[in-house]
Amino acid sequence: MSLTQLRENGASAPIRPVTAQALLEMKRAGLAITALTAYDYPTARLVDQAGIDLILVGDSVGMTVLGYESTLPVTMEEMLHHTRAVARGVKRAFLVADMPFGSYQASSDEAIRNATRFIKEAGAHAVKIEGGERRADLVRRMTDAEISVVAHIGLTPQSFHRMSGYHVQGRSIEAIESLYADAAALQDAGAVAIVLEGIPREVAAEATRRCEVPTIGIGAGPDCDGQILVFHDLVNLTFSPPAKFVRRYVDAATFFGSALERYRCDVTERTFPADAESYHLSREVAVQVEALEEHPNVLVRADALAKSDVVDDPFEEFTKLVPTGRG
Ligand code: KIV
Repeated sequence: MSLTQLRENGASAPIRPVTAQALLEMKRAGLAITALTAYDYPTARLVDQAGIDLILVGDSVGMTVLGYESTLPVTMEEMLHHTRAVARGVKRAFLVADMPFGSYQASSDEAIRNATRFIKEAGAHAVKIEGGERRADLVRRMTDAEISVVAHIGLTPQSFHRMSGYHVQGRSIEAIESLYADAAALQDAGAVAIVLEGIPREVAAEATRRCEVPTIGIGAGPDCDGQILVFHDLVNLTFSPPAKFVRRYVDAATFFGSALERYRCDVTERTFPADAESYHLSREVAVQVEALEEHPNVLVRADALAKSDVVDDPFEEFTKLVPTGRG
């Protein structure tokens, strides 16, 4: 095993990649864990360079990038494709790949085979699966197979039909108890972190207090060990009103929209591209072209030159223009 540390180009300080252990230590030290989704190379670079600790290639890619109505149609191949792109842009963050609907429910053998592909072929550091206590055996088997697992409970979008839509979970005493039981079972099975989505702040706070592993909240209030948002929500690229828990930090739809409008105008008004945005001939070739335009019957080929035909030219290497006398 090499002990070589990663260094940013030209930088003297080594980059310390975030590991599952580092996330655990952050929880113990009371340091907030930052997490965000990313689905492609440039976004991954930006998110990583911003110092975000955990990057999730979420199956939300289905809605944010691929235009599906839900996360349900997303395939293994689509997730692998996006995870590979993100992995190429990540140097520091802990990289988690979401296992898509249908890739881990049928059997644990198939689930492990699919999870292995994310680690082996796509460069993920861990996979995420949705579901509570009923996934504990799978989490244990994956952990035994050296695959780190992030669990995801509460509002689990892949259960859209079973939950009859997207609703805040854990509102009744029974549901709250069952969430705590889910978190405990998943932690005992080896989950390295637990995403708490769409649950009341009070419930998330107590689950976080009870858990030894970090909780990462989304729509679960400020008391989780960390927070995650969908990148497209944060920058307003979703083309729909945000959910209550989303904070928009920039209006990328307006920003990009106005840039695109100005580009369209510049092209239609022929102010783009400007001369400074164009390539130019070298002076020498420009002279040849000019001469050709003035004397269309000129043969430019140097090998057709006869010494006596050389035209007086201020540029020595351009004494190649010679009238052929034809035409
Ligand atoms: O797919 C996703 O983006 C998620 C989140 C936790 C945000 O699962």
